[in-house]
Amino acid sequence: MTKQLLLLPGDGIGPEVTAQSRRIVDRLNADAGLDVVMSEARFGGAAIDADGVPLTPKTLAQALAADAVLMGAVGGPQWAKQSYDKRPEAGLLKLRSGMGAFANLRPARCFAALADASSLKRELVEGLDILFVRELTGGVYFGEPRGIEDLGNGERRGVNTQVYTSSEIRRVARVAFDLAKGRTGRVCSAEKSNVMESGLLWREEVQALRDAEYPHIDLSHMLADNTAMQLVKNPRQFDVILTDNLFGDILSDEAAMLTGSLGMLPSAALGEAGKPGLYEPIHGSAPDIAGQGVANPCASILSLAMALRYSLGRPDLAERVEAAVEAALDNGARTGDLGGKLGTTAMADAIIAGL
Ligand code: IPM
Ligand code: MG
Repeated sequence: MTKQLLLLPGDGIGPEVTAQSRRIVDRLNADAGLDVVMSEARFGGAAIDADGVPLTPKTLAQALAADAVLMGAVGGPQWAKQSYDKRPEAGLLKLRSGMGAFANLRPARCFAALADASSLKRELVEGLDILFVRELTGGVYFGEPRGIEDLGNGERRGVNTQVYTSSEIRRVARVAFDLAKGRTGRVCSAEKSNVMESGLLWREEVQALRDAEYPHIDLSHMLADNTAMQLVKNPRQFDVILTDNLFGDILSDEAAMLTGSLGMLPSAALGEAGKPGLYEPIHGSAPDIAGQGVANPCASILSLAMALRYSLGRPDLAERVEAAVEAALDNGARTGDLGGKLGTTAMADAIIAGL
């Protein structure tokens, strides 16, 4: 059955890396019985410049009608002075919430060939395989009230609200528990229940769901600051880490660096069953290297692999793509971020050769 993939290349290095994923799809369509039709739309800063907003209603409708959406990256210094609702990032938040993509899967896996690229010693990161399940459509990113208020006398007040309901917590915890079943069955839930009511609710709801429906899951709870520390002390103690939107944003960047490069890590954002998934590299738009053809395409290509697994009905091809990335690394293929000299296209060539 034909599947629809919407590409949203976005800004900075987004278009360069997404173009390489497009080549992979072309190749799998031609050689591996994949039947994916790709379309493309403007998103982020590119859409602000052309359409006045980072995400047009038409693009959101296209995303909802697709089977999967593969995003590149958004943002850049030229749009950073706008108010929040006019920034490229607002388009991303609107897309995530408009798609109902509440569960963000961020695998942090250390490829054997890259263990020496990590900022930690090889013996700490070799074989590292953590799966973050980050809540993506709630918490302080979306909580109301928010804003900057003028109090007079040159004094201002900035407000954001961290808020979670039981059902928001339970639906993302369910995703973490279900995924843990196919792994070692261990889930560590991270929050700040020592200082935040929303963190206490998080801990209680996660534990209650585990007790009621997932007796075989080995659930532990950890304060988020301790989690940050444990990630650099002994990262291999973790299997699945379940956490909220803000802590997930921070901890997943930290874990990404343990694997050698932010340029390697994919992500998937999933909603209710049957809804399209949103796939994005974890890295940003990297304006400093944009347009030079040197960005690492692996995170985009591995995000495409996640799309093949979770939204496009081809887990077999997901494995093939992941194996091809691993083989390219084993053969010494490296972009600049990994200490090598290959450009974006040459890196993708090395991966395509292994398909
Ligand atoms: C991420 C990014 C985004 C986030 C930004 C670009 C809005 O940092 O996907 O981790 O904070 O969620
Ligand atoms: Mg982030």
